[in-house]
Amino acid sequence: MTSQLSQLTERPSWKALQSHRSLFNEKNLKELFAQDQDRGKKMSLDAIGLFLDFSKNRITEETVQLLVKLAEESGLRERIDSMFRGDKINISENRAVLHVALRAPKGEKMIVDGEDVVPKVHEVLERMSCFATSIRSGEWKGYSGKSIKNIINIGIGGSDLGPVMAYEALRFYSKRSMNFRFVSNVDATDFVEATRDLDPSETLFIVSSKTFGTLETLTNAHSARDWLLKGMGGDSKAVAKHFAAVSTNATKVAEFGIDTANMFGFWDWVGGRYSMDSAIGLSTMIAIGPEHFNEMLAGFHSMDEHFRTAPFEKNLPVLLGLLSVWYNNFFGAQTVAVLPYDQYLKRFPAYLQQLTMESNGKHVTLEGTAVSAETGPIYWGEPGTNGQHSFYQLIHQGTRLIPCDFITFYKGLNPLGRHHDLLVSNVFAQAEALAFGKTKEQVQAEGTPETLIPHRVFEGNRPSNILLADSLTPETLGKLVALYEHNVFTQGAIWGIDSFDQWGVELGKVLAQKIIPELENPIEPPLQHDSSTNNLISLYRKNR
Ligand code: F6P
Repeated sequence: MTSQLSQLTERPSWKALQSHRSLFNEKNLKELFAQDQDRGKKMSLDAIGLFLDFSKNRITEETVQLLVKLAEESGLRERIDSMFRGDKINISENRAVLHVALRAPKGEKMIVDGEDVVPKVHEVLERMSCFATSIRSGEWKGYSGKSIKNIINIGIGGSDLGPVMAYEALRFYSKRSMNFRFVSNVDATDFVEATRDLDPSETLFIVSSKTFGTLETLTNAHSARDWLLKGMGGDSKAVAKHFAAVSTNATKVAEFGIDTANMFGFWDWVGGRYSMDSAIGLSTMIAIGPEHFNEMLAGFHSMDEHFRTAPFEKNLPVLLGLLSVWYNNFFGAQTVAVLPYDQYLKRFPAYLQQLTMESNGKHVTLEGTAVSAETGPIYWGEPGTNGQHSFYQLIHQGTRLIPCDFITFYKGLNPLGRHHDLLVSNVFAQAEALAFGKTKEQVQAEGTPETLIPHRVFEGNRPSNILLADSLTPETLGKLVALYEHNVFTQGAIWGIDSFDQWGVELGKVLAQKIIPELENPIEPPLQHDSSTNNLISLYRKNR
């Protein structure tokens, strides 16, 4: 399918967008709004309980039509169908990409290699649900007979960022009598700080690793076992009551010494960064309970259905993806800021960094040839209003173009005096200020001294999207995550890249394996790196 496509920059819609782009040298957002009093309403979309105002973008209706044309000419429809059909669209690893099956309701069919995978998904969900319920109710006892009060997820990348983000996002719904912690870094500080005040007899570790071969996770898991055994009198039988595993690799789980009865599986057609709603979400399920977890899955599923069926011009993830392509490829914007105005979403930008950049940070097409346009923009952000008092200066008055996604809710989960109105007023104000700025004349009229006027002018014309939902529920979180998953998919489809592999993380891992013995060897090893690396290794050996 993809090989029949012409090169990206040769597509008629790409060329049309290139010439259309010049319109925005003359017309800014202020003029676009002045031209059409209804623009704010017209350029917004209300679907499956999410409201997107995309009117403050450097676009006209024609831009949307051309971008949709680009999606069509890039085979987005075929790629969506291909993903949902279970085709092996992760070509460099020869794998299907079927995270959408993780949230398919019972009875739906999703096929990988001729097998319907939905029953397997629900079988694991049911086992997770029994396990989570027995931990939450106190029925599950640790080795010394005490109930479990502390859950520590050990994992990294997709086996950590999703669980941490979801726990923080849904903390409001969590079992407050339990502690949830997350250890990811191979830096011992992460493990030591997470466990220092905990009683091993009340602690359960969930070792989460798709491959069960990741250096950081296995190192932390071994330290966890040592910590547990030290605290429990050294009896290795304690492990079975204090360790669970989430993995695709039962052999390695057993080798580590975790009872495979406490193992929850998933499959190679779930990418690490697309796995927070698989068994990797076990800590989430224990925190919020199976019912809330199922509501989250329902949220994911409703976005999947929207993505699969809505026409592109009314399709939330498609629109967001196309807007990213628009700024990335036609305005040279290098980043996208994601700015959630909800404290519970404080780890959402960090979660999105892996989702977006591990997926679309690619330099070759599916055919292995160099991509003809820039790919993966850098995603970053912080929750509002904190960001306003740090980096917003650059967004408002810097020389770079930074499209922003604001996310907020009609209702806060912790109503307290005027807080929520103040919070939301800031979202609307920031987007307004970015779009319309403040002219020299306005600054002058305020009596500003002449020399200060340039410093106080805001050019405006800075694009943003605003996403609004009722409140941050498990269901809404599912919708939001799936929104960005499919946004990433859309962008990857336009660029014709494999958004589901991650070869770029391999080289550093391999080199570290060579350097580890060179640091640990008691005898000075012969070093055959470049002169910088050799010198650094010697310095470290001397000074550690
Ligand atoms: O190094 C990158 C990566 O492979 C991610 O894609 C993945 O989410 C993470 O490592 C952790 O891998 P695993 O779950 O196999 O331990």
